[in-house]
Amino acid sequence: MTAPDAPAEATGGALSDECEYVRICRSGQVPNGYVRRFYAETDHGQLELALARLDGRAYATSNYCTHLDCLLSSGKLQDDGIRCSCHNSVFELEHGRPIQPPATEPIRTYPVREEDGQVLVGLTERDVVEGGPRRRRPPGSE
Ligand code: FES
Repeated sequence: MTAPDAPAEATGGALSDECEYVRICRSGQVPNGYVRRFYAETDHGQLELALARLDGRAYATSNYCTHLDCLLSSGKLQDDGIRCSCHNSVFELEHGRPIQPPATEPIRTYPVREEDGQVLVGLTERDVVEGGPRRRRPPGSE
């Protein structure tokens, strides 16, 4: 018997790949040259994201390095991408490809729109179910 809150794939249902844009924060909360952690709240659950702005453009990625799961929101942006603070892997932000080891697997990336001073990230049910949550925000924190 399957638990009632099991992911759709575990129950034989298909996860939707239909993309829905979710408001994440105000544009000003992601200044140029910075990366920060945010949580997308969706009908399918919560997804932790790293939002970065490089050369004026906003990017959304998984917040977890594919090497050993360090938080990319604790990393630093550089000219060609984001550097993990743990062992210095670098990922380019457009497609998430690792461009400096030790990481060899790409991070997930998500489409971003900015409208009316807000950052919106395009997420599917599959993104949310397969990508989160790994760590929960402490109660009462932002
Ligand atoms: S955890 Fe990111 S480089 Fe090792």
